[in-house]
Amino acid sequence: MQLTRKGLWAGLINEFREHLPEISDDAITTLHEGNTPLIEMVNLRDIFGAIRVLFKFEGLNPTGSFKDRGMTFAVSKAREEGAKAVICASTGNTSASAAAYAARAGMKAYVLVPDGQIALGKLSQAMMHGALVLQIKGNFDEALEIVRKISEERPVTLVNSVNPYRIEGQKTAAFEVVEHLGYAPTYHFLPVGNAGNITAYWKGYKEYKAKGMISNLPKMMGFQAEGAAPIVLGHPVEDPQTIATAIKIGNPASWAGALAARDESGGFIGSVTDDEIIEAYKLVASREGVFCEPASAASIAGAIKMKNEGVLNDGDTIVCTLTGHGLKDPNTAINSSAKPVKIAADTKKILKLMGL
Ligand code: F0G
Repeated sequence: MQLTRKGLWAGLINEFREHLPEISDDAITTLHEGNTPLIEMVNLRDIFGAIRVLFKFEGLNPTGSFKDRGMTFAVSKAREEGAKAVICASTGNTSASAAAYAARAGMKAYVLVPDGQIALGKLSQAMMHGALVLQIKGNFDEALEIVRKISEERPVTLVNSVNPYRIEGQKTAAFEVVEHLGYAPTYHFLPVGNAGNITAYWKGYKEYKAKGMISNLPKMMGFQAEGAAPIVLGHPVEDPQTIATAIKIGNPASWAGALAARDESGGFIGSVTDDEIIEAYKLVASREGVFCEPASAASIAGAIKMKNEGVLNDGDTIVCTLTGHGLKDPNTAINSSAKPVKIAADTKKILKLMGL
C-alpha cells in the first residue's frame, strides 16, 4: 500500500534541481525548506471585492522566513567549495537562517546585526544555533559594508543576497506559486528591504516563462516602509527608520535588480507608512488567521493601497508574499494588541466579563 504521495518533500535543491546551477550530492545542506502554502484569502472581501488574493506564507520555512530558500543553496555551495565559515550582515532573519544552515553543515557562522534593532525571536535563533553574534553600533547598511570587506580578505563566505546562489535558491518561490496556482498571478506583491527577494522572484518567473511553463508574467509590486524607502526616493537613506525592523535598510544591495523587476514587468515600487503596515499586520492575523511579521505585512499594505487607488481590477489574481513568521517579533505583536485581562479564578466573574 502506498502511504505517501511520492515521498517526503526533499528540500528545494532536490525538488527543483533541473532549474538550479549544478551542485554535488554530498554538499547539499537542507532542512527541507520550501513547499510553503499559498493560502487563499477568505475574509477580506470587504477590502478586496472580487480580486482573488493569495498569501505565500514563507513564515512556514524551517527557520521561519524565506531566507532559508537562499541559504540552503548558498551554504551548500560554500560547502562544495570547501568553506569552513560563513558571514552575513542582517536585520535578523538572514542571521537566523545562516546560523541554522551553518550548524547543519558543520561550519562556523559570523553574523553582524544592528544593536538593539533586531526582533527577539531572530536574535534567539542566531544564538541557539551557535553563531558568533556581533551587535554593532551602526545600521544594516554599515554592517553589510563591513562583512563584504571581510569576506574579500579572509577565508569566510559571504551569504548575504549579493551571493548569487542566494538569489538562485529564492527564485524557487516563484516556481511554487506557478505550480500551486497553475498560472502566474496578475500582480505579485513583496516587501522590499535589501531587494534580493524581488530580484529572485522576477528571475524565477522569467525562467518559467522561457521554459514554456507559463504564458504570462506578473507585474512585480514592491513596497518599502516610508521611513526606509531609498528606491522610491531615488537615493540612499542615511538613517532609515521603521517599526518593520526587517526592512530598515537605506541602501539596498540589489537596487538594480529591483528596478529591473519593476520596469521589465510593468510593475511598481512604492512605500507604505508604519501605521499602514501595522494595520495590515493585524488584519491578516485577526481576520485570516495568518500571523506574519510586521515587514511581511508591507506586501498586504501595498496591495490595499493599490486597490484603494484603483490600480487592481476585479478578476485579478494577486499573490502577497508573507516573508516571515509573526512569532519572530513577539514584542511588536504584544505592543499592537489588546492587553490580556487579569481576573480572579472565579467562573461567575469570568462569565460576566465574557458577556455569557
Ligand atoms: N521581509 C522580511 C521578514 C525580511 O527579513 C526581509 C529582509 C525582507 C522582507 C526584505 O527582503 O531584503 O530581499 O528585499 N531581511 C534581511 C535580513 C535584510 O537580514 O534578514 P529583501
